Amino acid sequence: MVEIRVGYSHTHLMKGVILAGGKGTRLYPLTKVTNKHLLPVYNKPMIYYPIETLTGAGIADILIVSGRGHAGHFLELLESGKDFGARFSFAVQEEAGGIAQALALAEDFADGGKIAVMLGDNILEDDIGPAARAFEAQTRGARIFLKEVENPRSYGVAEIDGEKIRHIEEKPQEPKSNLAVAGIYLYDEHVFEIVRNLKPSARGELEITDVNNVYIERGEMYYELLKGWWGDGGESFESLLEASMLAARKEKKR
Ligand code: DAU
Repeated sequence: MVEIRVGYSHTHLMKGVILAGGKGTRLYPLTKVTNKHLLPVYNKPMIYYPIETLTGAGIADILIVSGRGHAGHFLELLESGKDFGARFSFAVQEEAGGIAQALALAEDFADGGKIAVMLGDNILEDDIGPAARAFEAQTRGARIFLKEVENPRSYGVAEIDGEKIRHIEEKPQEPKSNLAVAGIYLYDEHVFEIVRNLKPSARGELEITDVNNVYIERGEMYYELLKGWWGDGGESFESLLEASMLAARKEKKR
């Protein structure tokens, strides 16, 4: 049988997952009737940026996890993925129980393979293709991306020792470094077993930082430093504005 998929480029790279659930309360009332990831960042809906980061790295088979209430809007906006040279699948996270809980919904989709997970509100300039290819060659473990920031308290913060990461702390009061963990993670197939064994954090969520700390304890976590700009567009009105300005500057440079 010959299979023809219009606009979908076959790739041997891992599959991708974009997490676009959550409540978006920090951007209220912008998020009163729509989802944070559908808000404009300069000339595109926010979710276009993580999609383009993954497809730019050759990751074209992508599961989009969204929350209840707006799942239909994602489907209408993004359709099959043909316009992005990708193939999209969709899943719904019933309650906003944390990033790791949303990730658990990707287990069947991952089908025992490695995955690239990206948060739907993260916008980055770097091409992650080389890191993704290096990760394909890595036999097991995980790889994350760190970026020096001025306000580490808002993020997962990594304490490093040369090539090694010692520990990650989620939104620490007293950060041990200014290296934020960006919302893009490369995981081997063991990630789902790790998520199944997580306990909810003090804020009642399954935390991605706890997943990453398990890989660190196993001695299987590697990192890359991001060179270009990186923004979390969903953190605050300021970060949304900053993301728009960065996107505009990049668009004008083309
Ligand atoms: O942006 C990077 C930061 O993202 C990391 O440095 C932190 O370690 C990580 O915990 C995360 O922190 P945030 O506070 O920014 O996470 P937030 O709750 O905003 O969720 C980020 C994305 O994850 C959001 O755009 C949608 C998705 N999400 C979140 C939750 C809580 C879901 O899909 N489901 C959820 O239940």
